[in-house]
Formats: sequence, C-alpha cells, structure tokens
Amino acid sequence: MQHDKVLILDFGSQYTQLIARRVRELNIYSEIHPFNKILTNIDDYKAVILSGSPFSVRGDEALHPDLTNIRGKKPLLGVCYGAQYLAHFSGGNVAPSNTREYGRAKLSYVKEGETFLEGISEGSQVWMSHSDTIKELPTNGELLASTHDVQNAAYKINGETTFAIQFHPEVYHSTDGKQLLENFLINIAEVNPDWTPDSFVEETVEALKAKIGNDKVVLGLSGGVDSTVAAVLLNKAIGKNLYCVFVNNGLLRKNEFENVLNQYEGMGLNVKGVDASARFLEALAGESDPEKKRKAIGRAFIEVFDDEAHLIEDVKWLAQGTIYPDVIESVSATGGPSATIKSHHNVGGLPDFMKLKVVEPLKALFKDEVRRVGASLGIDAELLGRHPFPGPGLAIRILGDITAEKVRILQEVDHIFISGLKEWDLYDKVWQAGAMLLPVNSVGVMGDERTYEKCVALRAVESTDGMTADWVNLPYEFLQKTSNDIINKVKGVNRVVYDISSKPPATIEWE
Ligand code: XMP
Repeated sequence: MQHDKVLILDFGSQYTQLIARRVRELNIYSEIHPFNKILTNIDDYKAVILSGSPFSVRGDEALHPDLTNIRGKKPLLGVCYGAQYLAHFSGGNVAPSNTREYGRAKLSYVKEGETFLEGISEGSQVWMSHSDTIKELPTNGELLASTHDVQNAAYKINGETTFAIQFHPEVYHSTDGKQLLENFLINIAEVNPDWTPDSFVEETVEALKAKIGNDKVVLGLSGGVDSTVAAVLLNKAIGKNLYCVFVNNGLLRKNEFENVLNQYEGMGLNVKGVDASARFLEALAGESDPEKKRKAIGRAFIEVFDDEAHLIEDVKWLAQGTIYPDVIESVSATGGPSATIKSHHNVGGLPDFMKLKVVEPLKALFKDEVRRVGASLGIDAELLGRHPFPGPGLAIRILGDITAEKVRILQEVDHIFISGLKEWDLYDKVWQAGAMLLPVNSVGVMGDERTYEKCVALRAVESTDGMTADWVNLPYEFLQKTSNDIINKVKGVNRVVYDISSKPPATIEWE
C-alpha cells in the first residue's frame, strides 16, 4: 500500500526533526532531505515544508533551494527561514529586526475564514526564534496573522497553495502548532493520514517476507528497545529463520542477562544467550582509559558475535536496529554540501558477519515511533519503557580499571537505585538513571569502626534524545532512603553523592 508522503527540506534548523515528528503524529509519513539535494522523484510527495535555518536570507551564504518543481505546483509551507526565503527572493523584503525575537509570543491578529488558520484564534501562543524579520510581503502575498512584535507572522501567496509562518509550529510551546500543520496538510494539501503503527507493522512484515524469502538472518539483541522491536518484527515475518544472539558482556545490570533472556524466550524469539563475561573482563584487564575500554569491548563483541554467526549455517543477512536519526543526512553548519556521509569500510578487513547483506526494518522510524510500533506488536510496556543503557555498560560507569569485584559492587548499587525509582513511581519520570563507581576511597565511620571505602555517585537525568540533559530534582526523602540502603547493604561503599550537573557542560556518563 502506498501512503501519501510529505517532504521536509532541511536548511539546518535545530528543529527540523521536530517538524517531521509533529507531521508523523498526524499519522502522515514525512521524510527529511537536505535543501540542496535536488530530488528527481518530487511527484512522490503530496506536500513540501521548508524548515528554519541558522542562516540569514540576506547573508552571502544564504541557502538557495531550487524550488522550480515545487513552487506553485505542490502545496508548500515555509517555516521561519522558509517563510523569509519565500519573501526575500520573490519581491518582499527581509531585514534585521530591532529586537531579537526569541521565545513565546501571542497572535494579535488572525484573519478570519482561512482554512489554514481554522481553530486558531487571537491570543494563541506561538514560539518565535529568529533575528531577521519580514518587512514586506512578497508579490501576491496576503497577510494572515501578526503578533505584537511581528507584523508578518503568517501569510499566503494568492494564486498558489503556498503558506508561510515566521513562528515554529513544531515546537511544543506553539500551542496550536499541531492544528496548523493539520490544517495545511490534511485540509489544504489533502494528505491522507493513514500511516499508523499497525499499518507500518503489516506492511513491513510483508516487505521483509518478500525481501528475505527463506534466507537466514542473524541479529544481535542488546536488551534495548530498538533491537528488540526489530527482532519481533523479523520474527513475525520469518519466524525461526531469525537467529538472535544476546551476549552477556558481564557489564550488564544485576540479573539482567537472565531476566531479559527469559523475556525474549517468552516472546517466542529464536534466541541464543552467550555468556562471554570472562572474555570481556580479560579484554579489559588493567585498562583505565575510557576510549580504550570502549574499543576493547567493541573488539570483544565483534569476536564473540562473529564466532556465533559462523555457527549458523548459510546465514545471508545481518539485521540491525538502526533508526531514522542515525540515517538522516544533515545540512552542514557551513551551508556546504550535506554532511554525515557514511564512511565506507574496507570490506576486506571486516569480520565475516559484517559482509552479510544488511536489513534495517526500523530505519524510517524515530525512537518514539519505535516504541509505538513495539506496543502495536504487543511487546511488554516495561521493556519498551526501559531507560537507555550504553553498549559498554557498567565499564564506563566504573571510573578507572575494571575488576569483577567492582562490577559486583556497582551492580548492587545500581540495583538498589533503579528498584527504588520504580517503587517510588519515579522511573518513568526520568529519561536515564544509573550509578557511577568513583576511583576514590574516603573515610567513614560505621559503629565504632573507622572505614576507608568507595564512593558512588547517582545520576538521573531528563532529556529527549541524550544530546542535552538536565539532572532530575529527585525528592530528598527518596535520596535519603536510597543512600541509606546503599551504605547499609553494599559492602565496600561508605559514601553516596548525587550528580547535579547538566549536559552541557557535563556529559551523562562520567566516562
Ligand atoms: P553522554 O555521556 O555522551 O551520553 O552524555 C549520551 C547518551 O549516550 C549513551 N552513551 C553510549 N551509548 N555506547 C553506547 O551505546 C557508548 O559508548 C556510549 N557512551 C554514552 C549514554 O548512556 C547516554 O544515553
């Protein structure tokens, strides 16, 4: 089945991915492409949105898309830079604004009777983020809305289905942003909103069956959401021909290997659990440099996985849980040709399993969509709601070198912290949480005895994508109880601290 598609031309705005997500929340499939990549298949798209940009249309480096095949031919919406671009190069005037317009504003004028603005009234809050402003509308432009500071906050071009807005409908603070996108896409561009998690599952399963046929596929499960959803989708398509490998690197959370393996088996997956803890610990012995630890773990994983892949006779495919943000081509900050071009590996030097054909069933989805697809596949809500956990696991939360004893201590501490978050109903309010074992001993007193033991740091952050994050204001009572539990129950720890650093400048992990 073919779905209507929306094209989002990216000019490098920090909000471009948000536009795509908002559109998809309307059950409409959208794709992001760099502004300068001339698409030959423009007819495949039902409507086009021009994103914002860090650039100025007045600058020498202004980004010039070729809109010949779009303008006047397809419903078109310009957002921020997009709106300024449509004005500046078509008879309007864009100039620096007297005040930097950043943050909340309220619509002070809304033209009545416009489909584009249906359900949006004066006083509606919008989010502005720009330093240029549209002083004069382009040829055939007609004003649709203003705010106190911005006269030309929204306009249309008569004779075309072209609309433009200075504010950002994709940002949560634009209260009616979703309504506006719906007006444009569904009521004006007549895009059919039929792209749902159920339809995605149904079509992907059919496509996987056709693509893979009777071939065998190997997939590395991590216990995380992406690899799990990818496995369940493939399992639905090809059943036992999917060979899942779940490696215990000895750096997982307490009991995680056993618990998750049981869960996978319960889901009917053809999964093999491989306990390679000793091999990983050996590879890490004596190493305290964070990047070298990561590399040692990466190498050990490849070796273990390659060994396992060789045990599967005649395997043809490698499945991966790659998601959309990993593959979007981004516009470079210098305005040059698009960045993020995947490096090509030297195929000769790759382990054998990497020479397999690759299948990535989730590569069109954002993280929140992976979760919705997972729910539609009937995957347990607890598994889908798990916090992100780094591939190198506890190795990058034990500062300095790794020993089995340090792993044991940190597993106990982490277990108390995470179970506590669940008991206190805080787990789902936190984006990621964990404990760090610090390479310092400090003096304490227990009973009548002086102790000289380890210090652990607890970290809980809120974030949307891990790129920026802030520490969570956990209740003091919870921190007090958790600290007490840790010091009383985990031998070798006599001090607990709570990390109150935001990212940036700190990172989420300590290594
Ligand atoms: P940082 O520490 O860079 O972490 O603020 C951002 C997010 O990335 C995770 N992270 C990793 N994930 N391998 C992974 O698979 C790694 O080496 C790694 N380092 C950090 C981190 O847990 C957080 O979610």
